Amino acid sequence: MNMHIHPLYVAISACDIVALCLALGALSCRAWVAPAGPSYLDRPLWWLTGTGILALATSSAALLIGRTMEMSGSPFTQSLTLLPAVLQHTRFGQIWLVRPAVLLALALFWWRGSHKHTPANAIVMLVLVAVIAFTRSATGHPADMGQFTPAEWVDWIHLLAIGVWVGSLLSMVLVAFPAIFAARPGMDSTLAIAERLSRLAGRALLAILVTGVVSARHYVVTLHNLTDTAYGRVLLVKLAFVAGAIALGALNRYGILPQLRRAATAAATAAPVAPVRLLARAIRLEVLVLLGAVITAAVLLHAMPPSDMPQPAAGAHTSAAMTTHVVPAPRPVRTPTIPV
Ligand code: HEM
Repeated sequence: MNMHIHPLYVAISACDIVALCLALGALSCRAWVAPAGPSYLDRPLWWLTGTGILALATSSAALLIGRTMEMSGSPFTQSLTLLPAVLQHTRFGQIWLVRPAVLLALALFWWRGSHKHTPANAIVMLVLVAVIAFTRSATGHPADMGQFTPAEWVDWIHLLAIGVWVGSLLSMVLVAFPAIFAARPGMDSTLAIAERLSRLAGRALLAILVTGVVSARHYVVTLHNLTDTAYGRVLLVKLAFVAGAIALGALNRYGILPQLRRAATAAATAAPVAPVRLLARAIRLEVLVLLGAVITAAVLLHAMPPSDMPQPAAGAHTSAAMTTHVVPAPRPVRTPTIPV
């Protein structure tokens, strides 16, 4: 496979996606997984949301610098002098400017949540993070055909659903399970959390699968491009991670959750028992597999999709079909050349 993708740009995209997952996940856990009233989960989820916002601020800065280096081919120091030109004269820069404004609003709502991090506060913040997610879709492959196209909306829903699924599992692993083990609530309350999480993950997964298949059809175009192009092969690797994560999710829902229900019936007021620890371990593994899918998705974002490749004359063999590229795919409406 002839891959010319710079690992730095892939790493920046992956970090930005993980930061989005952190923020979206911590907020959706507060809104839909944690108990509706005040609980021992509020503080840890509030802190995790703050961490997600900070990570988004950092990844946004890295994204701007990385994209400037990628578009201009300049080294780091020189690219810093090009930032004003990128912000003023490129579509990427203009869309990127939405991020600092939204991040500021998020920081204010986060501060407000230090007194009362209610589900309503979390939902307002979710809407703000969704705007940041849209800046990704509006500057990636889906924007090749212009703004506010169906491809862009599909990509946005894909990204939001990923944020909810991967992010809520990540929040459980990072803060919710440790808080459950420390607070030792009754089994009935732990079971209710696990059931709400399972429902949320199931709905998000459905949205991911539908939007993922629509996007894949759009970019891969023909079935044999799945094996004949670098883009298609990376997508297959991603699908292997997705299949692994779905298998683990099914194990949680149909294997471990019923054990938890039986334990709850047997001892409604007892401290968390073995099935809770088993669930925590299975979710940790699921998160690791999902991070593999996120990293391969970040590679895809910097590869040329078959839909953007020049069509070969009938019968001709093209080497372009086997390559990926460092600069984003030809984008007719988006990125004027930056003066270097
Ligand atoms: C049936 C399953 C799935 C299919 C067919 C699929 C396919 C795709 C396609 C074709 C893209 C567009 C990439 C591009 O812009 O060139 C994409 C984007 C993406 N996918 Fe998936 N995907 C699936 C599931 C998942 C899952 C489970 C995850 C997460 C763990 C995931 C993470 C992502 C991410 C992070 C992006 C980038 C979105 C952005 O930044 O705009 N996908 N996916």
